[in-house]
Amino acid sequence: MNIDELDTPHLVVDLDGLEDNLDRYQTYFSKHGIGLRPHIKTHKCLAIAHMQIARGAFGITCQKLGEAEVMVNGGVDQDVLIPFNIIGEQKLRRLVALTKRTRLTVAADSETTIRGISAATSKAGVDVGVIIELDVGARAGVETPELGAELAALAHSLPGIDFRGVMAMPTPPENRPFIQQTLALLDARGLPHPIVSGGSTPASFTSHEIPELTEFRAGEYPVGGMKHLSIKTHTVAQCAARVLATVVSRPTATRAILDAGSKSMSAAIFSDGSDSGSMGHVVEFPEAHFNGASEEHGNLDVSGCDPQPQIGDRVQVIPVHPCPCFNEHDVMAAVRGDQVEAIWPVHARGMIR
Ligand SMILES: Cc1ncc(COP(=O)(O)O)c(C=O)c1O
Repeated sequence: MNIDELDTPHLVVDLDGLEDNLDRYQTYFSKHGIGLRPHIKTHKCLAIAHMQIARGAFGITCQKLGEAEVMVNGGVDQDVLIPFNIIGEQKLRRLVALTKRTRLTVAADSETTIRGISAATSKAGVDVGVIIELDVGARAGVETPELGAELAALAHSLPGIDFRGVMAMPTPPENRPFIQQTLALLDARGLPHPIVSGGSTPASFTSHEIPELTEFRAGEYPVGGMKHLSIKTHTVAQCAARVLATVVSRPTATRAILDAGSKSMSAAIFSDGSDSGSMGHVVEFPEAHFNGASEEHGNLDVSGCDPQPQIGDRVQVIPVHPCPCFNEHDVMAAVRGDQVEAIWPVHARGMIR
C-alpha cells in the first residue's frame, strides 16, 4: 500500500529512521558493556520490542504491570523491570502471577512497598527481584544514600524478595555521586547489587561516564520527538514517529488547520524558550509554528511559510512527546519511503494499571 492511501490522522513510524536509532543506541551500549533494557512505554508495540531484543537488548522496562503483561503475553518475556512501587492487593496478585512467567524485578522506595511485596510473594512461594529507587530529582525514590541502604537491608532480609540493587532516573553524569555513595553503603553492609540501572534517552551517550551502571533504560530513542530534535540526539530523519495529517482549513492568510489535534498529537507542548511553545514539527513546512490545538484541530501559524500549505495537503508532524502520542492511537503504519510495510497495533495502549 502507498502511504497516500492511509486516511488521516494516522500514526506513522518511518522504518529507516527507527532501524537507524535501534542500531546506533544498541551499538553504543554494546561497545561500553552496558545492558540495554529499552523502556517500551514509548511505543507500546510488540513488533518494535521484538526488534529491540533481536538487536541485543537483554530485557525490557515496563512502567506498569499492564504493559508488562501485554509484553510477556506477546513473547517479550526474557527479563522485565517495572520501575514502579507496586501497592495494593489487586496489583500484588498480578505481580505474583507475572513472577511465574518471566525474570521480574520491581522498584521500591518505602518499607510499605517492600513489606507488601514480601507478604504477597512469600505467601505464594515465589521470589521477585527488588531494587531500590534513588530520587535524583525526577519523581519517586529515596532521598538519601543512607535511606537507600536501610531499605536495601530490609529487602535483603525478607522472604519472597531477591534483592538486586538500585535504579535512578534520569542518570546524566552529575547524578553519579548519589549512586556511588549508595553502592558504598551497600558494600559496607555486604549487600549485593547486580543491578545498577540508569535511564533516559538524553543521558544515553554519556552513560559510560557512570561505570557503576550495569544496565540502561532508554525509552524514546527508537523514535525521538521534538525535544530530541532540539538537543540534537535525533535528526529530522531519525525522528521516526510522525502523525500524518491533512490541512483541512485556511481560515486566514496566516493560519492553517490540521485534522490532528490533541487527540492525535497528545497535549504535550515543547518550548526551547524562544516562543510560547509548539505541539509538533511539521516536516514539509518547517517554518510553520504548531501553536495550539483543540481535540481534533491543530492550529498552525504559517506566516513564515513560502510556499504556503493548501487545503488538502498532507503533512507529517513529529510529535513533542512520543509516549503519550502513541497512546492516542490504536495502530501505527510502518512505512519505508512511501510504502506501508505493515500496520502494527499499539498493543499496550491504555495499560495504565
Ligand atoms: C523509570 C524510567 N526509566 C526510563 C525512562 C526512559 O526515559 P526516556 O523516555 O528519556 O528514554 C523513563 C521515562 O520516563 C522512566 O520513567
